[in-house]
Amino acid sequence: MNSPETSVLIRKQIVIRNYLCSTGHEEVSEIIAGLSAQQKYLPSKFFYDANGSKLFEEITHLPEYYPTRTEIALLKENAPQISKSLKNIDIVELGSGDCSKISILLDAIPFENMATVRYIPVDVSRAAISKSAGILVERFPEITVHGMLADFLKHLSIIPKETKRLFCFFGSTLGNLTRNQSIQFLMDLKAVMNPGDQLLIGLDMVKDIQVLEDAYNDNQGVTAIFNKNILSSVNQYVKTSFSPDWFEHAAFYNQSKDRIEMHLRALKDIEISCMYLQDNIRIKKGETIHTENSRKYTRRHIVDFAWITGLKINAVYTDIKQWFSLVHLIT
Ligand code: SAH
Ligand code: AVI
Repeated sequence: MNSPETSVLIRKQIVIRNYLCSTGHEEVSEIIAGLSAQQKYLPSKFFYDANGSKLFEEITHLPEYYPTRTEIALLKENAPQISKSLKNIDIVELGSGDCSKISILLDAIPFENMATVRYIPVDVSRAAISKSAGILVERFPEITVHGMLADFLKHLSIIPKETKRLFCFFGSTLGNLTRNQSIQFLMDLKAVMNPGDQLLIGLDMVKDIQVLEDAYNDNQGVTAIFNKNILSSVNQYVKTSFSPDWFEHAAFYNQSKDRIEMHLRALKDIEISCMYLQDNIRIKKGETIHTENSRKYTRRHIVDFAWITGLKINAVYTDIKQWFSLVHLIT
């Protein structure tokens, strides 16, 4: 079991523990594996340094980026139903980001139950966790926050389990995992769930290709900046000097795989040294680094997830256009 490297008591109601690798060795290996592959790739968790988390927040307000506002509307509409029985419970939010969505559920908890609720945000972004924990306890002085700076692909087993839990996984972040990763993740999550635990998961649905592609190619170019910002994390971890100006943003729908793919396409031949590699990294003009998948789902996938995990579908909340689904699964 990992023991937290640091445990920071920010104020009476907030503790944040860091379970991420303190040396950064694991991150270096992950980046080097991606940059050494035939089709170069980077794990999308590396988007979320402090600047990347801020840029993602900006994306969520863009007119083209429908997922956030659609999921928020679904949460507002259904929070009374979901939150009415939340009592003596840990609400664990995986990839918690800016906490705006959890606030909707917390708002709908009957006041007399609030002091029995603990909120456990789990995220790799230190900036996101500290900022959101502060905002939350201001808004909800009755709850306690136990933040975990951790990787939800590696650290599910260290999430506190003494109380019953509602796991929340919003934003269709599941779609950023590969198919195999997402199946493994769901099975790992089920394996740590106890009887009485619940899972609320937000999934972006298959829809008109133009709508999908516009959401990842916004007019203001914020998604392009977000995409290129992953190079700052790479430079920091593996001590390279990639420049965002050497690449262009490319995002398109891959229909055969039901996913948006984001890439960084080289605008020129690139050769760059890296202290962790014997040979220089070479990228040819036109070659891409695959930075993100964002899978889109159908009803069939939802049924498959229930089957894979053995969880029961308690409810599927969706909007009138069926653009987004909020799936409530129970043990
Ligand atoms: N849930 C929020 C944020 C989505 S952005 C929303 O719906 O708006 C994805 C979030 O997941 C980011 O905050 C990012 O830092 C976090 N994240 C990505 N990969 C992660 C991983 N492997 N472990 C923990 N957090 C991760
Ligand atoms: C966090 N995640 C689900 C977002 C998505 O839509 O895949 C990240 C994102 N990438 C580009 N725009 C938003």
